[in-house]
Amino acid sequence: MESGTAGAGGGMKGVVYRGPGRVAVEELPLPVLQGPRDAIVRVTRAAVCGTDLHPYRGELPDFAPGTVLGHEFAGVVHSAGPEARFRPGDRVFASDVVACGRCAQCARGLHYQCAEVSLFGYADVVGKPVDGGQAEFVRVPFADVVLGATPADVSDEQGLFVGDVLTTAYAAVRNAGVQAGDRAAVVGAGPVGLLAALCARLAGAVETVVADTDGSRRARAETLGFRAVDPAEPSAALAVGPGGAQRVVEAVGTDAALRFALETAGAGATIAVAGSHHSTAMPFPTGLAFAREWTLRFTVGDPITLRDEVLGLVRDGSIDPCQVVSDRVPLVAAPEAYEAFDQRRAFKTVLEIG
Ligand SMILES: NC(=O)c1ccc[n+]([C@@H]2O[C@H](COP(=O)([O-])OP(=O)(O)OC[C@H]3O[C@@H](n4cnc5c(N)ncnc54)[C@H](O)[C@@H]3O)[C@@H](O)[C@H]2O)c1
Ligand SMILES: [Zn+2]
Ligand SMILES: [Zn+2]
Repeated sequence: MESGTAGAGGGMKGVVYRGPGRVAVEELPLPVLQGPRDAIVRVTRAAVCGTDLHPYRGELPDFAPGTVLGHEFAGVVHSAGPEARFRPGDRVFASDVVACGRCAQCARGLHYQCAEVSLFGYADVVGKPVDGGQAEFVRVPFADVVLGATPADVSDEQGLFVGDVLTTAYAAVRNAGVQAGDRAAVVGAGPVGLLAALCARLAGAVETVVADTDGSRRARAETLGFRAVDPAEPSAALAVGPGGAQRVVEAVGTDAALRFALETAGAGATIAVAGSHHSTAMPFPTGLAFAREWTLRFTVGDPITLRDEVLGLVRDGSIDPCQVVSDRVPLVAAPEAYEAFDQRRAFKTVLEIG
């Protein structure tokens, strides 16, 4: 095993959750290799995600203060255990989902169902806590599975999108079954929603309507050439045509948004939910679902399974995820970046670290 510490003594800076509405950039100990499959990555780019807003907005009351945040990151391998597959100096991006790659669920390609699943920087919400990558260095468990190699013609910023948001959007569109000629609807015009709309267009949807409660988000959707509607408008659910949408992606993660997604769904529709849901129950229109013969699918993006496919789309120019980046700021500006994202003054913020 290579040296156990990430750097020559000292510490590093990282973004730490301190309670709802409060994140701080703090001095932290350098991470150390803990097993033969671990790698320590020197992070060059990390991003703030809608998933980070759930604890920030107090929606996860048990989320542990002190958690080092961040599950979207790319960088360079600093040190690696003998079974980590990567060597120091390799450019890599991480899957947001940590999985062992060896259990029965991983063998089925269901990495989020892995017995050892975690999400970087998300306390104990998903499996055991693993420190996140909004930091100068991060320990990556099961690095041979969790890390993808960043090709020379792919930037670190593009790589971090393949590690989560773009791949999630792609998976949702695939699970919604979007095909040439379909009428699609995307509920939520955040980064996941807009990338899903772009993936739906790529898959051949003739029309993709995007719904968002926020006017600035709708305006951004329009700049990408999508028709944008406010779900509060009485006619919004019909905006995709009298028959409703054939393919619907929900990219918000609230009961209200899922209800609206169902309202837009036409006969035989498939609804793929990519928003992270945390409620335990919601009323469901079973009669309508039966009458319209709907298929409802929940989608946790799986970058481990899909990264090569999605990297291919980035490399051949089919889709550039960087077009949704609104702000690029240094790590020390993370508290302001969270606030701006929460208040919808920023769309997608990348932390430029090294
Ligand atoms: N499934 C996965 O693997 C995965 C991966 C990444 C993100 N996510 C989830 O996807 C969701 C979106 O992420 P994001 O980064 O785009 O976040 P975001 O917060 O930027 O986007 C959410 C958008 O939904 C809009 N919105 C809120 N309520 C709405 C409603 N009732 N109807 C329509 N629009 C509404 C907001 O105005 C915002 O523009 C989050 O829940 C996030 O946790 C899931
Ligand atoms: Zn994310
Ligand atoms: Zn596993």
